[in-house]
Amino acid sequence: MWLYLAVLAVTVAVFWVRRKYSYWEERGVAYIKPTFPAGNLGVRGKQHISAVMKRCYDQLKGSGAFGGIFFFTNPVALALDLDFVKTVLIKDFDYFHDRSVYYNEKDDPLSAHLFTMEGTKWRNLRTKLTSTFTSGKMKMMFPTITGVAEEFRKLMASEAQKGGEIEMKEILARFTTDVIGNCAFGLECNSLHDPDAEFRRMGKKIFSFGTWKLILIILAQQFRNIARALHFAAIDKEVSRFFMGAVKDTVEYREKNNVERNDFMNLLIKLKNAEQSKGDLDSNLGALSIEEVAAQSFVFFIAGFETSSTAMSYCLYELALNSELQDKARADVMETLKKHGSMTYEAIQDMHYIDQCINESLRKYPPVTILTRKVSKAYKVPGTNHILEQGSTMIVPVYGIHHDAEYYPDPERYDPDRFSPAQFSQRNPYCFLPFGEGPRNCIGMRFGLMQARVGLAYLLKDFRFTLSGKTSVPLKIIPNSPVLTSEGGLWLNVQKL
Ligand code: HEM
Ligand SMILES: *[C@@H]1O[C@H](CO)[C@@H](O)[C@H](O)[C@H]1NC(C)=O
Repeated sequence: MWLYLAVLAVTVAVFWVRRKYSYWEERGVAYIKPTFPAGNLGVRGKQHISAVMKRCYDQLKGSGAFGGIFFFTNPVALALDLDFVKTVLIKDFDYFHDRSVYYNEKDDPLSAHLFTMEGTKWRNLRTKLTSTFTSGKMKMMFPTITGVAEEFRKLMASEAQKGGEIEMKEILARFTTDVIGNCAFGLECNSLHDPDAEFRRMGKKIFSFGTWKLILIILAQQFRNIARALHFAAIDKEVSRFFMGAVKDTVEYREKNNVERNDFMNLLIKLKNAEQSKGDLDSNLGALSIEEVAAQSFVFFIAGFETSSTAMSYCLYELALNSELQDKARADVMETLKKHGSMTYEAIQDMHYIDQCINESLRKYPPVTILTRKVSKAYKVPGTNHILEQGSTMIVPVYGIHHDAEYYPDPERYDPDRFSPAQFSQRNPYCFLPFGEGPRNCIGMRFGLMQARVGLAYLLKDFRFTLSGKTSVPLKIIPNSPVLTSEGGLWLNVQKL
């Protein structure tokens, strides 16, 4: 009897999986044969998601607007051509406004932030927060950033004197942590001077988790209702407690002492107190709760320091490999400084070659390697008979597109001239997506680019970088990291000029 039931259960399971895996075939969509249980995700913990998605993209490219793959047993549509990418991200945005990322407002309040929020709630908050990131606001925050950069320069000088071999990824993360801490929280995080400062320690914790936790997060992502029913929290408890506390203290302090500052926190506090001043209050949003304020601060923090510091470290790595390009970048800084007199906001905007170097490193190493969108209502793919079902997932393989030889000949070569005005204007704009595109693109793009430019300008002005024997060429990527991060850090020899 039991044996009979067991055989029956296995048979049913096999049929269920087979049926799931015939999804794309039945619909006549080009797809890649999945294997149970991970589908086309491969063996996690072995290869970074960017490489896995690039392989899928390379294999399917040419078979139309999109192709079919599987995350576990869930079908996922992979965008293949740039017209379709544009359609999804911009033209038919109404069908693709959400991201389909696991969050749990009740058990894990910090996870319900702008990146994960959905529908009207997202739209209303996005509209309000957009005003925090205008170029006017960036200009106001600029002195804060250069203040931190000045401290950074001093620290580099003393480290360079000690022997000159420096792990740049960590020190850059300490720089961006202090910048974002200052601009988002109005706090001296002090991680430049104290490598074990709380903010830095928490920041590290957010981006390093074991294979087991990663698997749980991927599963929660695929089976979100079950995960919510099980009260699954993706964010580490200690991290949650720390951030909630830091935000509550800051808000309390500012409210008690009537402190107004030009930073992200100031605007969030206004949104929290919107009730009191009638007319401010949006019917669909309501006033933000303290948890919601904390969640937005949290996303600015995590989105703000790791992406920018990895982008800067890859840029320095490539410039250390190629001294000619490094000299050219340094000359750009020196000449622009001479023209403007000092490191002003306008001077930084005027460093075009630095900009090209940063963009080329964002091309070769996009910190966020895929974009995801949830299909929020059944969608007929233009020019085909295919319907993308409500609730299914759409992926734009940014890393694959950035490494496609059709758009970027010899894609593994680092060449800032790809972003010279002449070459840039000849390319389809949708083959460069480090910040995503459309109404749901990166809200902090200006801020991220600005802190990367300032950091690089300060470094190149005073130091020369060469490769240390401790860093592998080409870089090895950590398979489990949510952003594109190199293994063993980035060791460079630093010489004061
Ligand atoms: C080099 C630095 C950065 C890179 C490469 C980057 C990249 C991205 C990407 C690819 C997305 C998804 C876009 C899409 O789906 O179309 C995103 C979203 C987002 N980023 Fe960034 N980012 C950077 C810096 C920042 C900074 C400094 C902040 C905040 C201070 C920030 C805050 C956000 C937020 C809140 C979202 C979600 C926006 C929404 O869903 O409405 N990012 N970022
Ligand atoms: C670099 O990329 C940013 C973001 O896409 C863009 O605004 C800027 O114009 C680009 N600069 C160059 C030199 O390509």
